[in-house]
Amino acid sequence: MAVLHNDIFLRALLKQPVEYTPVWLMRQAGRYLPEYRATRSKAGSFLNLCHDTQLATEVTLQPLERFKLDAAILFSDILTVPDAMGLGLHFVEGEGPKFVHPLRHEDDVSRLRVPAMDKLRYVFEAVKSIRQALNGRVPLIGFSGSPFTLACYMVEGSGSRDFRYLKTMMYSRSELLHQILTINAETVTQYLNEQIAAGAQAVQIFDTWGGILSDACFAEFDLPYLQQVISGLIREAQGRQVPVVVFTKGGGLWLEKLVQSGADALGTDWTINLQQARQRVGHKVALQGNMDPFTLFGSKERIYDDVKRLLADYGHGSGHVFNLGHGINQYTDPEQIKYMVDTVHHLSVAYHSN
Ligand code: CP3
Repeated sequence: MAVLHNDIFLRALLKQPVEYTPVWLMRQAGRYLPEYRATRSKAGSFLNLCHDTQLATEVTLQPLERFKLDAAILFSDILTVPDAMGLGLHFVEGEGPKFVHPLRHEDDVSRLRVPAMDKLRYVFEAVKSIRQALNGRVPLIGFSGSPFTLACYMVEGSGSRDFRYLKTMMYSRSELLHQILTINAETVTQYLNEQIAAGAQAVQIFDTWGGILSDACFAEFDLPYLQQVISGLIREAQGRQVPVVVFTKGGGLWLEKLVQSGADALGTDWTINLQQARQRVGHKVALQGNMDPFTLFGSKERIYDDVKRLLADYGHGSGHVFNLGHGINQYTDPEQIKYMVDTVHHLSVAYHSN
């Protein structure tokens, strides 16, 4: 394996000293890039793109050619996991992901099993191929949905405004939801460990829908399964620690509880102040985030001011990874991203000098 030339992202996640604040962006490979759209049309569909090792490698590296990002993220999707469980994933143009066989009834749930990891072999092949193509340039992030966020799509059968089916099951047949979550947690643990074995150097758990839960339901249906996954993860590979990031969108109120998940870093959306967040989590975890993705639709002056404020909010010392508070919007102008990334690197040096 090639030597890692830029390990600033891994060091920041472990709160080790760094020279500047590292930056990567959720959904950094995606439709806002014309070259992504070109590769995607060559593949024919988004799912074909995920299945094709060569093309998945190509799109993973595209944003790194344009911007000085400090990490790459595996090109795939969180919904490959329920697809491997036999739920039948497809994408309807303009409507997003859909499952042919959602888990609505007791019978559906009783048939659910941890899938053979071989069904996800194409993901692990992509990890290997991307690591090779990166050749030590920056670390590669592997990822999975959280057990709860996966369950949202599995029960609902698609995205949703209110997650009515999921919540109906949660409040009327909670044992069925727990059964799904237990299987998901075991699956996600195996899935992430396979990615780490294939070469992922950090992993992020996308808990995108945790924020739809009540305080009590977060404690019952989300956090324990995050803990279960993280406690089963391989934490060291090729002589280096493999940091774990948990991103619970809308989870700002639960930071202290999320620290107990066992993660090395917590992803934050734009609703929380990084200075207050840092005070609340203390020395226990690093923080990732948290610019509103729509700031990139503002003026350069506004982007500059927001980067400056976010860096000042986190303050001096390591433990901050700059990111957006959620994925890049598909209508974002790539030029604005380049400006943001360069500004983070330029302004953050001052926070890491002795
Ligand atoms: O961050 C990255 O660059 C890595 C790739 C990545 C994708 N999806 C690629 C993708 C990652 C990490 C994800 C995670 C993901 N997928 C999440 C969790 C994070 C989040 O954004 O909340 C969720 C909820 C999904 C499910 C999903 N996949 C949705 C809701 C959609 C959008 C559907 C649409 O048409 O807008 C997808 C499709 C998807 N995943 C695209 C990409 C680049 C767009 C597909 C396309 O090319 O048409």
